[in-house]
Amino acid sequence: MKTETVAAIYDRRRRSQTAATDRAVRFLRAGEIVALPTETVYGLAADVLNPVAVAKIFEAKERPTFDPLIVHLPDRDWLERIAKIDNQSRKVIEKLIAQFWPGPLTLVLDRQSIVPEIVTAGLDTVAVRISEHPIFAEIVREFGSPLAAPSANRFGRVSPTTAQHVLDELSGRIPLIVDAGPTRHGIESTIIAPRGGKIDILRRGPITAEQLSVFGKIDIVTSRENISAPGQLPSHYAPKTPVQLVNDAQSFSPKPNQRCALLAWNAVKNGRRFIAIRRLSERGDLCEAAANLFRFLRELDVLDVDLIVAERAPDQGLGAAINDRLERASGRDD
Ligand code: TXA
Ligand code: MG
Repeated sequence: MKTETVAAIYDRRRRSQTAATDRAVRFLRAGEIVALPTETVYGLAADVLNPVAVAKIFEAKERPTFDPLIVHLPDRDWLERIAKIDNQSRKVIEKLIAQFWPGPLTLVLDRQSIVPEIVTAGLDTVAVRISEHPIFAEIVREFGSPLAAPSANRFGRVSPTTAQHVLDELSGRIPLIVDAGPTRHGIESTIIAPRGGKIDILRRGPITAEQLSVFGKIDIVTSRENISAPGQLPSHYAPKTPVQLVNDAQSFSPKPNQRCALLAWNAVKNGRRFIAIRRLSERGDLCEAAANLFRFLRELDVLDVDLIVAERAPDQGLGAAINDRLERASGRDD
């Protein structure tokens, strides 16, 4: 794939950047991923409501595991279509939003069910923000629906603050980079979880603890910063049902009276051994498999079976991330 860079110098008189916006929106509507400037760092954006498009983000970033993504809203009206706000926290949340949005503050809130599991890595919470970058804001508004966008770097590298950094990281893996010059803040947004009158800071960023302390009691939960592998974060969805990882379910036989469900990679033969079966991708497509992974795990988890048997995916590309998640689910790693 050839990566094209399109310059977007915001025209204050015309107050729009039509050419770059049109191209970006066209790719996003087609289920593609595009790199976009925000006020913090460049992000790699995809349609939140299209799980296969979201899977392409993980593929391009070569994330060896799945980490929940930030959802960027077109406007405030989208907030409660994506997240639930409990009455206890509503007052504080509304004040924070009035003060800091649009801007580099991300809120972790309960998720609404329209948010695909791959976006939140299976969690019940979702991270949301509204970017104040004029180009990003124009693109997400024109697109008319939220965009998932992590930093546009490959796994384990620093976040990109110029279009050239993005090109260095992702050339040949994404169709389009919108170049609007260096980003203003150069570090990622502050992430908080408001709980009642308390505010947990999950990641420090441009909005400081001092600024936030006006709105509630601050608790800095930075231990996650010391964890190098994101998959080790405690905030990862874990099925309640035991999971057993196998290379091929053909050679698996349940114990007497054991009720088993199957999360399959391979075509299933002799499926009667299982109460329920979900095949990650009929076409053997890793992107589609990644997009289905957390949803299927949840669907099998609520069946109240004794065991979920999960087949390993091929250990390349997104397959490694799928297997990593399955290994954690099987308890080998957590
Ligand atoms: O400034 C930013 O926030 C940039 C721009 C592009 O918006 N984005 C960004 O995304 O830094 P990313 O994916 O590189 O970092 C997002 C962080 C991850 O560490 C992830 O674990 C955390 O947000 N996160 C996302 N959803 C979460 C959730 N539901 N609960 C806890 N942490 C969450
Ligand atoms: Mg990042």
